[in-house]
Amino acid sequence: MKIYEAIKKDHDIQRDLCNKLIDTSGDSEERKELWTTLKKELEVHALAEERYFYSPLIDTDEMQEDARHGMAEHHEMDELIEELTGTDMSSPHWLATLKKLVEKVEHHLEDEEEDFFVKAKDLYSEKEADSLATSYEATMDEYRKTWPESIPGKSE
Ligand SMILES: [Fe+2]
Ligand SMILES: [Fe+2]
Repeated sequence: MKIYEAIKKDHDIQRDLCNKLIDTSGDSEERKELWTTLKKELEVHALAEERYFYSPLIDTDEMQEDARHGMAEHHEMDELIEELTGTDMSSPHWLATLKKLVEKVEHHLEDEEEDFFVKAKDLYSEKEADSLATSYEATMDEYRKTWPESIPGKSE
């Protein structure tokens, strides 16, 4: 598997969670569970993706700007996640903020899949793309298990 497929697989998990979460209401168990899972998926993914997709691209002329842009969006998502965490789940503000987050996530995943992956394929060899996928997946597995402690500076 190449890094692009490994990432796409997790993007689809995020999309699915976003779609389900948007349809929940109040402070139901379902909303709580889906939110915790989405938060975990987004945080662990951003970390592993920065390490095994963006980091090596920061040093290239071709993709330095894209890599910075992508990581800046991770930061913006992080701020919305923090805001949601500090907001009462049954308030209208929570759902409004969730919608902002979902929009941002959707836009970001599209940038990555339609633009960044296409450009990165010219920079990463097939072999590199395979080995990045292996490292990415191992990190995802490990950090999912140890979340939220696995995320630097984060606690539930
Ligand atoms: Fe990303
Ligand atoms: Fe991503």
